[in-house]
Amino acid sequence: MNENKETRPVRNVEFSQIENLHVVRGEDINGTGRLYGGRLLSWIDETAATCAQRHSGLEITTASIDNLTFKRGAYSNDVIVLVARVTYVGRTSMEVRVDTYIEDKEGYRHPINRAYLTYVAITRDGKPLPIPYGLEITKENEQMEWDAAELRRQNRKKRSVEGF
Ligand SMILES: CC(C)(COP(=O)(O)OP(=O)(O)OC[C@H]1O[C@@H](n2cnc3c(N)ncnc32)[C@H](O)[C@@H]1OP(=O)(O)O)[C@@H](O)C(=O)NCCC(=O)NCCS
Repeated sequence: MNENKETRPVRNVEFSQIENLHVVRGEDINGTGRLYGGRLLSWIDETAATCAQRHSGLEITTASIDNLTFKRGAYSNDVIVLVARVTYVGRTSMEVRVDTYIEDKEGYRHPINRAYLTYVAITRDGKPLPIPYGLEITKENEQMEWDAAELRRQNRKKRSVEGF
């Protein structure tokens, strides 16, 4: 499929896909008995960063986090599953989507959050560095994600011009 004009060697989505699991403990709970939003955010960032690092094979830094919507709360002893996959690879940046679920005792996954994070590959002194691998797109849903990521990228550029 791969409609994007890629000239680099490619790695597919599965190559860097990460699945992470956390059990919600007492220290993760806020005053209303729910999982802290900030704790979930750090789990999301950690999972997505590992995915971006695996795709690029380089040091990376978080450039932006967006489309972060909390659909429902999580509580003590809930099993939280985070799934991260690369959706877009630019010259020096990558977008990673993270879907977060509560997994019940039967193994069914109930979505609680979806986030898109952008990572930039960097040199030791923090300068953007070209990513050596493009993304191989083989499935229709991967192409749809890629196309949507291009729109999100334009929106991020617009937002940064507008100053937020
Ligand atoms: C991310 C960072 C390295 C980008 O550096 P920069 O000099 O602005 O880089 P450029 O303008 O050359 O852009 C480099 C890439 O980053 C992307 N980018 C820059 N700012 C971005 C933003 N806010 N959101 C998403 N992508 C961004 C650009 O689109 C470009 O991607 P491309 O090469 O795939 O086209 C720099 O802004 C930085 O170090 N930020 C702090 C990161 C950090 O400390 N994160 C941890 C937070 S605790």
